[in-house]
Amino acid sequence: MNTIALIGAQWGDEGKGKVIDILAAGADYVVRATGGSNAGHTVVSGGKTYKLHLIPSGILNPDTVNIIGNGVVVDPKVVLEEMSELEKQGVSLKNLHIDLRAHIVMPYHKELDELAELAKGASAIGTTKRGIGPCYADKCDRIGIRMIDFITPEIFKEKLKSNLEFKNKIITKVYGGAALDFDVILSEYTEYAKQLEKYACDTGVMLYDAIKANKRVVFEGAQGTLLDLDSGTYPFVTSSHPISGGFCAGAGIGPTAIKECIGIAKSYTTRVGAGPFPTELDDDVGKHLLVVGKEYGTTTGRARRCGWLDTVILRLAVRLNGLTSLAINKLDTLTGIKKLKIATHYMRDGKRVDDFPADISLLEDCTPVYEEFDGWNEDISKCKTFDELPQAAQNYIEAIEKLAGCRVSMIGVGPDHVQNIER
Ligand code: GDP
Ligand code: IMO
Ligand code: MG
Repeated sequence: MNTIALIGAQWGDEGKGKVIDILAAGADYVVRATGGSNAGHTVVSGGKTYKLHLIPSGILNPDTVNIIGNGVVVDPKVVLEEMSELEKQGVSLKNLHIDLRAHIVMPYHKELDELAELAKGASAIGTTKRGIGPCYADKCDRIGIRMIDFITPEIFKEKLKSNLEFKNKIITKVYGGAALDFDVILSEYTEYAKQLEKYACDTGVMLYDAIKANKRVVFEGAQGTLLDLDSGTYPFVTSSHPISGGFCAGAGIGPTAIKECIGIAKSYTTRVGAGPFPTELDDDVGKHLLVVGKEYGTTTGRARRCGWLDTVILRLAVRLNGLTSLAINKLDTLTGIKKLKIATHYMRDGKRVDDFPADISLLEDCTPVYEEFDGWNEDISKCKTFDELPQAAQNYIEAIEKLAGCRVSMIGVGPDHVQNIER
């Protein structure tokens, strides 16, 4: 079997797009299986920057088949905009397929996402407001509109009517918002459906045949382990399963179909949105990471919260995802910081905590315990091998391996896909 899953090991934005682009170079298939346009994956290749939200990063390789699996929630407007942007950049869409079972993000999902966040006030989650939670909620409530419904005009009209009647009651009566217009949505979205119809198919069958034929398949993770609906920092999470298990339900494959799982992490930690973050820094080092690391969201432009690397989190990622190795990105961002710190465990009420707590209220009382390392000043952005890295940078990577309990197979030293060290 020739399959590999790439998974965010922290709170998202770990540089998955870049690693996926590197590994997609020889891939026959690249598959997105979870999340929606809340994702923002940046790929810097051949001097061009691509920002992808719904379309798998394999699209940049003309020979790779790209699948948006059944577990993804597809915003037709966003995907069509992204398709037109890619075509303008000379990228072909002939190998793009969207699963018939994928759920469709409708305007009322985005409206409800926004209204629910506003109503939560200080306890808002800080969502991307892309309608992700409300769309997955409809899927669970079994009233969602799937791709197959969307491209079947009479079914789409019927489902839109009944859903909108109900959603408008919530929008106006619960939140005091303005009702959305059925005819406007019907005509706009019917047009989108016509444009997307030719991409819709049963991708599960395609994938099964590809895996049986020993094709190289890359599963492209979105979000990150700590944003997982079950195992993340609930309720400050997304509404899907960004962990490796999510690929099974979201791409329609069995667990034995995944051979290798690479967890992608930064050499430090970031998070966008609200929720606990034990190693967060509100000092000059935090500012260095924000500015030098250009830590602004790809989807929302929000400044990301920054902090030291936390190996309690990485151990959780190794365990939950069954990681076979780690890719550590943005090692170059740490250049110039005199003393570096890595959290090895937490202390709570005088007791040592080695495993990430299930209850975030306990997490708030945890104080990280750090191991300190010497930094380096050399420019590492052109290093091609591990041995070319300064000794202090090598020590830092080896410490991650030891503390996380997992081999580091790739190291990012810059945003371009050539700025990568393979071990
Ligand atoms: P994703 O959501 O996990 O794909 O990550 P994002 O694209 O949202 O954010 C990662 C950012 O870091 C992007 O701007 C990447 O171009 C950039 N990046 C990725 N790897 C590296 C690296 O090794 N060094 C530097 N300096 N930037 C990187
Ligand atoms: P990529 O794939 C970072 C965060 C949001 C918010 C929480 C819930 O680029 O790594 P949602 O809109 O999903 O309901 O928001 O999840 N979030 C991400 N943070 N990277 C992402 O994706 C994210 N997708 C969602 O900021 O805290
Ligand atoms: Mg991102």
